[in-house]
Amino acid sequence: MAETTSVVPLEKIPAHVAIIMDGNGRWAIQRGLPRLAGHKAGTENLRRVIRASVEFGVKYLTIYAFSTENWGRPPEEVKGLMYILEDVIDHELNELHKEGVQLRHIGRLERLAPSLQQKVLAAIEVTKNNNRLILNIAFNYGGRDEIVQAIQRIIKSGIQPEDVTAVTVSQHLYTAGVPDPDLIIRTSGELRVSNFLIWQSAYSEWYVTPTFWPDFDKDEYLHALQNFAQRDRRYGKVSSGELQESNA
Ligand code: FPP
Repeated sequence: MAETTSVVPLEKIPAHVAIIMDGNGRWAIQRGLPRLAGHKAGTENLRRVIRASVEFGVKYLTIYAFSTENWGRPPEEVKGLMYILEDVIDHELNELHKEGVQLRHIGRLERLAPSLQQKVLAAIEVTKNNNRLILNIAFNYGGRDEIVQAIQRIIKSGIQPEDVTAVTVSQHLYTAGVPDPDLIIRTSGELRVSNFLIWQSAYSEWYVTPTFWPDFDKDEYLHALQNFAQRDRRYGKVSSGELQESNA
């Protein structure tokens, strides 16, 4: 019998979970704190969710930490988010490495400070052979920007237009070689895609919760996985049950 994580059978655990960690600002404002305090609490929570992902047997976790649009936030908030990325690498890398987490980055590194770019690249290098969990950090990431870059690379590579398929596109995205997300979680109740993994999410299942990201705990994560385990993923076709009935 397959191992189970509480009540989710292992074969029903999504291989790839992606998260829009929304609501940090509102969490802070509700407490009379500056928005950055919300991002710090969100970072604490991220640590717990990464650990829970390893424990639940999730293989790929993609987190939306900074979008190409987030540059439009107040400069101190942008600076604070950059600092958080640096701080996570400085203080969490050893622990993540020990836990078998492989760090990857998706998005454009080039707009970050050169020293931060170096830190990100070094963290990727140090953890590159880990395989318990692949953690994709979407930082200065935009889904449209990713597709535009993929098109540019495809054209530059000289592939003929008639040879371009959906697989060609997937292979030229930042996420080449990574399975599409099975489950996308969005906290804080917003019903938007926000330019996140727009190509890869074609058949992802969504779990949207009103909970603000800093309060999205292990129990609710497990609840999201249980909810996912009950979904009937049809990929635009009909369910296998319906097929059997129509063939009877
Ligand atoms: C959205 O909440 C959250 C972000 C734009 C940043 C998320 C970043 C973290 C949780 C920190 C972890 C980061 C790294 C680099 C590992 P919001 O600010 O839009 O919240 P609001 O909608 O309530 O204002």
